[in-house]
Amino acid sequence: MKLCVIAGDGIGQEVVPQAVRVLQSMLPALQTVTADAGWATFQQQGTALPAATLAAARDCGAVLFGAVSSPARAVAGYRSPIVQLRRQLGCHANLRPTLSLPGCGLPGLDVLIVRENTEDLYVGEEHSDGDTATAVKRITRAASLRVAESAFALAAAAGRRRVTIVHKANILPLTDGLFRDCAREVATRYPQLQVDEMLVDTAALKLAQAPQAFDVLLAPNLYGDILSDLAAAFGGGLGVAASLNLGQGVAIAEPVHGSAPDIAGQGVANPVASLLSLAMLLRHHWQLPAFATQLELAVQHVLAAGTRTPDLGGSASTAAFCDAVMAAL
Ligand code: NAI
Ligand code: MG
Repeated sequence: MKLCVIAGDGIGQEVVPQAVRVLQSMLPALQTVTADAGWATFQQQGTALPAATLAAARDCGAVLFGAVSSPARAVAGYRSPIVQLRRQLGCHANLRPTLSLPGCGLPGLDVLIVRENTEDLYVGEEHSDGDTATAVKRITRAASLRVAESAFALAAAAGRRRVTIVHKANILPLTDGLFRDCAREVATRYPQLQVDEMLVDTAALKLAQAPQAFDVLLAPNLYGDILSDLAAAFGGGLGVAASLNLGQGVAIAEPVHGSAPDIAGQGVANPVASLLSLAMLLRHHWQLPAFATQLELAVQHVLAAGTRTPDLGGSASTAAFCDAVMAAL
């Protein structure tokens, strides 16, 4: 088993090595390969995702990607490395769970957002003549069927009850309509699951009002991005929000948060998002569900015992939290 470790920028450099230390304590035979990506890499090497990083990620098949800093304005030659990596590795589905954890967020919450990961407004085709700017929103039948298949298969395997298809087909009947129709087509093969659909604005309102009422949400790329950040707010915030990018035989574990320049360098970033992302890698990619559950329970145990980083009101450092998780394991 091999893991390609891409820490990236800012707190990625802090949470990723610590989370890997925990994983190595569980899997002593795990080989790790470290690789560069991000803003610092762009400044040093002229590319945010060097060819060597892509090759290492492909070779390992499993990646932990921390976070990178991205400029808010267009910079010539810079493209987001995580967006490229997801596309290059063919990670078609992004799984973003929000779970109640001891003492953080709302109780009784267990929502899984499955976000299409390769197209929609993220194809990066923007044009402007200075007065009119246009972005391409591309939805294909193939990508929509593929992500729907992953969402329904995962929901069925996990014994979940309902999948809610999120779209805005009243305004975008061709693009979002195609996504919705593909999801409906896949749903017919899963009669054990209830299916409903919701316009994205209504989904945002209902998520804000009663997030516990949702089970699985299946959404195109942009809506999934926004709704999963909203859901994360009810589950203890960005410090604990985990995700997994899933492809054919490849997966990228990825904490949802960014490089957090406001706290970087202090050694206090919350490693829970990275640890729970690794648990998803154990369960869905390496097919080691017992290890995944062990890691999740250890994290929950440490939180329940009151060891927390400052974002959750505690005073533990990143390393001290991981020490406690290793002791719990
Ligand atoms: P952010 O997620 O980096 O930070 C938002 C807030 O949450 C900050 O107050 C931060 O301190 C806190 N936070 C985030 N993760 C935390 C953790 N593990 N422990 C404790 N507190 C945590 O988002 P922001 O500030 O909007 O973006 C900062 C940079 O990160 C930007 O350059 C942005 O482009 C990049 N970014 C990268 C992402 C990625 O690599 N996937 C995702 C989101 C943003
Ligand atoms: Mg996001």
